[in-house]
Amino acid sequence: MEVLVCPDETHAHALVAKILTTRVAERPDIVLGLATGRTMIGVYDHLSRSDISFRDVTSFNLDEYVGLAADDPRSFAAYMKRHYIDPLELDPARVHVPDGIAPDLTAAASAYENSIARAGGIALQLVGIGRTGHIGFNEPISSLRSRTRDKVLTPATRAQNADDFGGDPAAVPKRALTMGVGTILDSSELILLATGEAKADVVAEAVEGPIAARVSASAIQLHNKAKVILDEAAASRLTRRDYYDFVFLNEPKWDGYRHLVATNLEGGDQKDTQS
Ligand code: GLP
Repeated sequence: MEVLVCPDETHAHALVAKILTTRVAERPDIVLGLATGRTMIGVYDHLSRSDISFRDVTSFNLDEYVGLAADDPRSFAAYMKRHYIDPLELDPARVHVPDGIAPDLTAAASAYENSIARAGGIALQLVGIGRTGHIGFNEPISSLRSRTRDKVLTPATRAQNADDFGGDPAAVPKRALTMGVGTILDSSELILLATGEAKADVVAEAVEGPIAARVSASAIQLHNKAKVILDEAAASRLTRRDYYDFVFLNEPKWDGYRHLVATNLEGGDQKDTQS
């Protein structure tokens, strides 16, 4: 796992967008795993201003509220149309979101898993983190091997997402269809993006705490190609920050990316001492 700390959320969005556009430039028909939430809006904004076309990308979103149709403006399908499909002028048929109104959720969940497998698996998965430590909607004590299924949301998550529902937590659906932790871990590469002070404690638990179902995001420690991209506020409770910055400054693979992050780092010249 690598932890990359950016000076602010704008730089964090730009860094994630640059990794995504680089992967798409290398492989235009890549399969991506995509995420929603306030944190991701800035990333999609960067993608919409990029010269790299996402036309041939196939994507699978992490989750959807149960009971919301794709044309409900509060659904994650509608979020993807607003922030990704329309601005990037994409074919909606390539952008998969779990079907929150499927009559048989178990069948819809296994169909979703099958579609991911048929597409060849997810090459790069983007995730955010909820304040309960969830990735996707894998609330505390989700099995670390779980697959796509419907999941009951915690009151904390419903409160966190109430803004999209007129500010009323009771109006937030009680369930969601979400990729499992195991589904997420199957991706070839994983990026967790978190910004803001409100995420600092849970980010520290996920990155430096024990791997535990209590904090499903801690499962990223089991992934062999995971990057955690943070702003200063979200990184503020990490204890090994010096080491994370040192790696970023010295890994040659980050040479083309350092300008997006390095304004908050010292010793940037060290990069040239590595071969
Ligand atoms: C949501 C989603 C997650 C998202 C997280 C954080 O409810 N299910 O995929 O990463 O909670 O959301 P935000 O970025 O708005 O803080």
